[in-house]
Amino acid sequence: MPGKPKYYLTTPIYYTNGLPHIGHTYSTIVCDTIRRYKRMRGYDVVMTTGTDEHGVNVERAAKNAGVAESEFVAKMADEWKSLWDELGIPSDEFIRTTDLKHAHTVQWLFKLCRENGFVYPGHYTGQYCIYDNAYVDVKPGENCPDCGRPTETVTEANYFFKLSAFQKPLLNWYAKHPEFIQPESRRNEILSFVEGGLRDLSITRTSIRWGIPVPGEEPHVFYVWFDALTAYLSAVGGPNYEKQGYWPADVHIVGKDIIRFHSVYWPAFLMAAGLPLPKQVWAHGWFLMDAAKMSKSKGNVVTPRSIVGVVGMDALRYYLLRETVFGQDGNFSYDALVTRYNSDLANGLGNLASRTAAMIEKNFGGKIPKPAGMQPQDTALATQAQAAIVEVLELYDSLTFSRVLEEIWSLIAATDKYLTSEHPWSLGENDADQQRRATILWTTAEVLRIATALTHAILPESTAKVWTLLGQSGQPGSIALDGLRWGQLAPGMALGKSQALFPRIEKTEAIERMEAMENEPQKPVTAPAAAPASAPTAGGAAAAAAPAASEKIGIEDFAKVEMRVGQIKTAERIVGADKLLKLTVDIGTEIRQICAGIAQFYEPEKLIGRKVAVVVNLAPRKLRGVESNGMIIAATVGPEGRPVLAGFPDEDVEIGARLK
Ligand code: MSP
Repeated sequence: MPGKPKYYLTTPIYYTNGLPHIGHTYSTIVCDTIRRYKRMRGYDVVMTTGTDEHGVNVERAAKNAGVAESEFVAKMADEWKSLWDELGIPSDEFIRTTDLKHAHTVQWLFKLCRENGFVYPGHYTGQYCIYDNAYVDVKPGENCPDCGRPTETVTEANYFFKLSAFQKPLLNWYAKHPEFIQPESRRNEILSFVEGGLRDLSITRTSIRWGIPVPGEEPHVFYVWFDALTAYLSAVGGPNYEKQGYWPADVHIVGKDIIRFHSVYWPAFLMAAGLPLPKQVWAHGWFLMDAAKMSKSKGNVVTPRSIVGVVGMDALRYYLLRETVFGQDGNFSYDALVTRYNSDLANGLGNLASRTAAMIEKNFGGKIPKPAGMQPQDTALATQAQAAIVEVLELYDSLTFSRVLEEIWSLIAATDKYLTSEHPWSLGENDADQQRRATILWTTAEVLRIATALTHAILPESTAKVWTLLGQSGQPGSIALDGLRWGQLAPGMALGKSQALFPRIEKTEAIERMEAMENEPQKPVTAPAAAPASAPTAGGAAAAAAPAASEKIGIEDFAKVEMRVGQIKTAERIVGADKLLKLTVDIGTEIRQICAGIAQFYEPEKLIGRKVAVVVNLAPRKLRGVESNGMIIAATVGPEGRPVLAGFPDEDVEIGARLK
């Protein structure tokens, strides 16, 4: 696209030892929003995402799955890529760190750093956090100060990068480019880190095998962060970046946990190689679940499919961007998600669009009416809409997404109020009234057109529907935001087909559906041998999901599931969750709280004293906000999936006895 200014942005390159949850989805949604917005501002935009496929974690995950690393990462990368496609947030460039072009770029970058005198050989012994892929400054036996997980003592020969030589150049760079690290709080954090002095960094490893080889220096492979950060460059040409013209990146969007790698190591590597530095690194906060960062090991993750399956992708985008100030942490809550959906989307945008269209249909044969003389209240709304255009573009530029939406939604609220006070439905049929009605409905439709254009980057699917409804040609994505002005809605255009926009949903039921989907077994992404022996299903009381005949598991997999005889001590219903019972169960060694999806078929009081089969080594999770620490085994019977508890009617088995 010649002539257009280029804009390049990136999401982090995601680890392939797990699957995407809402936290990862957030980074990608933010980038997709910026991409759509920048395109509407006339830029030729490239957005890169991808997968970070090397390192000890992946090596171990592949081993556990019983497959070769290359096979493991290929499947995982495919899962990530397909999910982004399915969610309507595909990247323009999807880079895998196992791509050959990426390996060449990493080796080239290393060569440049070495030729320029910033690499030297050495030995290192230190505590290494395999989860963060970084050496940490703690004593043997101490946990990682960042993630709190155990560290390992590692001694190895490796190549060092002279990070210490970049303290001054980095501080000068930050001073000259105050916008480089955003938000301000992160900038201050990094400034004090760098001011405190920088230690040289080991950038190759001999202790692991699964990595990009250092040419001529086998068994050295590159340290994962030297490898992963370079992906941003390999995606847009690597050594030939100048030809493609997208480097340096305009912005790297990252989570706050990886800001140091992006704003200290990465610019230092690039400086050492004599390459241009990215223009900005923007760190967003975390989405927390029950006040903790979502993570698979804590069992508190929420995945995008379960949400999108119930409220749709636009609702998820709206919620994530509206509820939390970009840069700060936010709490994920199903309740708040559905509340936002009903109040802002169904009752707000959706309702305004459908009633405006219905009134135009009824009174003007489905054609946008011609306004006839503006009154002060019409002009006031026009002025607010025109001001919103200017304001919203500035807010998008500063990535203040929650304020973007606040601004647009206050325009929608003002329009609702305007309709109520002008009540076009109660005007008569005479010419004067019909003309007044025409002005009101044209004004309302014009607000909708403007709100649609301004919201499109955040709600791409639903704004496309409103656009069609308003009879506008093309896609809202092709609107040039620089030319958006009040008064451009042409009268006489026929309205398009009305499509369902945010139908209202019943909160309890929607939450139950999302939670049930969240608890459904994940399809295995690894070789058949890695399929779980039994997977938890909705509600916590479930039959072990039988693997397909082709997915036979080994006895060692079955042995991973620890089942014991438990006795139910208490049972009660959970307010707002029709299907769940909260149980306390004695499993011999302790009394556990377990939620079970049996409330519609079992009376709580009749369960007391009953002996049941319990899976005791499942990661704890929350169901409707209630912690569930295990799973009760039940058969699923009949078409309605009635749960029937597995039990021990013939003999009085000992509490805590293991089931094998
Ligand atoms: N592979 C590295 C990044 C290399 S970039 C050159 C990595 N991967 S990750 O998969 O662990 O995380 C990717 C991103 O997801 C990070 O920016 C991280 O902050 C973000 N999130 C992971 N969990 C999150 C939340 N709960 N909330 C918001 N974002 C979080 O780090």
